[in-house]
Amino acid sequence: MAEKKDRVVLAYSGGLDTSVAIGWIAEQTGAEVVTVSVDVGQGGEDLETIRQRAIDCGAVEAYIADARDEFADEYCMLDLKANGLYQDAYPLVSALSRPVIVKHLVTAARQFGASTVAHGCTGKGNDQVRFENGITSLAPDLKCLSPVRDLALTREFAINYADKHSLPIEATHHNPFSIDQNVWGRAIETGFLEDIWNAPTKDVYSYTDDPAYPPLPDEVVISFEQGIPVAIDGKAVTPLQAIQEMNRRAGAQGIGRIDIVEDRLVGIKSREIYEAPGAMALIAAHKELENVTLDREQIRFKRQVADRWSDLVYEGQWFSPLKRSLDAFINETQDYVTGDVRMVLHGGRAVVTGRKSETSLYDFNLATYDEGDSYDQSYAKGFIEIFGLTSKLAAARDVKFGRGEAMGEANLH
Ligand code: ARG
Repeated sequence: MAEKKDRVVLAYSGGLDTSVAIGWIAEQTGAEVVTVSVDVGQGGEDLETIRQRAIDCGAVEAYIADARDEFADEYCMLDLKANGLYQDAYPLVSALSRPVIVKHLVTAARQFGASTVAHGCTGKGNDQVRFENGITSLAPDLKCLSPVRDLALTREFAINYADKHSLPIEATHHNPFSIDQNVWGRAIETGFLEDIWNAPTKDVYSYTDDPAYPPLPDEVVISFEQGIPVAIDGKAVTPLQAIQEMNRRAGAQGIGRIDIVEDRLVGIKSREIYEAPGAMALIAAHKELENVTLDREQIRFKRQVADRWSDLVYEGQWFSPLKRSLDAFINETQDYVTGDVRMVLHGGRAVVTGRKSETSLYDFNLATYDEGDSYDQSYAKGFIEIFGLTSKLAAARDVKFGRGEAMGEANLH
């Protein structure tokens, strides 16, 4: 009886490199290759076309999954609840999509009896870490393989290989950029952007129009329930629909363009362009609703949690114990984050102009400077006396020793 062949599950985009990887992995390892293609709202070719190409390139099985709602509900919405931005700027577009792809890779590995999971990442980026950490966090018995990194699958090699084997894929020698996109946003890198003085040109962008020439201002009301957008201008939406609608409307106003030099996990600084119109507009609205509905100490502490959470997600620790613990904190804070936020989208900016919430902590009678407020100003005097006491004591000591900024009486004359 012929021995059963080993199987490798390959994350398959349908592009040149991963199409060549199908045959190349089989040749180099003797294993059968099963491809996995996941729709996270990246657009482009439909999954059926991609499945057929995988088979035509030699895959024994081709697994496809429409994970758009799953991605929006369980990944993008958590980033929204966290207001998660890496380096205060990047809404974690690629970093969020890797764990959902990983889940499907592991599911397919189990379903088709594979021992190894392969991906098309190079050895220089974050994505290899996100895939491999993710896979071994969900399935410690699985092995990982990167044909680009581990089996010398260069672009030149891929072009020649595709040509020699007449693979049904267009082989171009020159891609101006490396692009990764999904419904939460789009990442663009390499090419002339590697000179960090070069400004991005028009052709870099696709989710956003030039904010310098905006259409008329667009007023929008976003309704949230426990941190999740549930309606836009009164019309019920799913998280996926909310992101799509805001991508369209904020994108038309050029909102969410980001240009930063970023610290990769592998130690390299790299120049990244992102466009995430829906994500950035939703985060702006959500953050303001939190200002109204969260307690001051919660808001302060949550900022630190979000920072750490974003680092963990960026560094491929989505399934780690600490990330899960921080998720619990973030989710708990959202209990009262319910209400409406009105924003004007215009010329690259999403500006909040109104907020309304049944669960608000804003008390008009306390805040008002009009007659009849319920705040007793006389209490403030004693409060300040005690609140300032530690600094006052320290200042008196400085005066005594002639140090610091404190000025003794002699110096005042
Ligand atoms: N630097 C970003 C990140 O690590 C984007 C990576 C995008 N990947 C790509 N193949 N272009 O999240």
